[in-house]
Amino acid sequence: MKGILDFARYKRERRPITMVTSYDAWSARIAAEAGIDCVLVGDSVAMTVHGFEDTLHATTEMMVAHTAAVRRGASKLFVVADMPFLTYRKGIAHAVDVAGELMRAGGASAVKLEGVRGHEDVIEAIVGSGIPVMGHLGLTPQSVHQLGGYRVQGRSSEEAQRIFDEARALERLGCFAIVLECVPEQLAAEITEALAIPTIGIGSGGGTSGQVLVLHDLLGLNPDFRPRFARKYLDGYETIRDALARYVEDVRGARFPAREEILC
Ligand code: KIV
Repeated sequence: MKGILDFARYKRERRPITMVTSYDAWSARIAAEAGIDCVLVGDSVAMTVHGFEDTLHATTEMMVAHTAAVRRGASKLFVVADMPFLTYRKGIAHAVDVAGELMRAGGASAVKLEGVRGHEDVIEAIVGSGIPVMGHLGLTPQSVHQLGGYRVQGRSSEEAQRIFDEARALERLGCFAIVLECVPEQLAAEITEALAIPTIGIGSGGGTSGQVLVLHDLLGLNPDFRPRFARKYLDGYETIRDALARYVEDVRGARFPAREEILC
């Protein structure tokens, strides 16, 4: 299994780190076979799989169940699990319990949490407990209502400075990597240059140490949501819909099952 020391080395060697979200055993198995470096059981599962409007609906129970499924699908993959909304804002003991549950019951290799201000002590405590922590800055979806929507962060010089300072703080607190979501390319590249730990970008240009995409965006599974930065590698929605439509037609037309498909 790859680990945090490999990711640090990849950054030093300028070998881009590959990450994709995964929420279940089948996609984890495929991601592992495709040679992905690590998967993220993102709280985006609340939207992509459970159909909620935002990530605020992800619960600890939900995240543990999906993380465990991913682990069952790919026993040797480095798995990062998101800490759900507010679970790291209720004090150190609660946060360490949730992180521990994601590691122990879910089989995660690391946890990810958003932001830094106001929960520096929590990050330090989780890292101090022996759990690798990935930070997440820029567009932090759990704060979508405070940010006023899903929009690029760090355009003004004050905002850019704040994100830069937060990235340095996360490194100081012991994070092994940081996701930079929807920040201007130059800012992401400057942060990446300034830090020793790797940055993983999403919608933040090519100057980061690696890239992460939401699996459903990459596979084109949601026709109503096509972020500009997410390259679509498959027309998944249409492909699956057409396969199911063929199945429906075959059953209705008595073409399925065929003689050789009848087992008993
Ligand atoms: O939950 C998620 O999928 C994420 C990625 C967008 C980085 O946090």
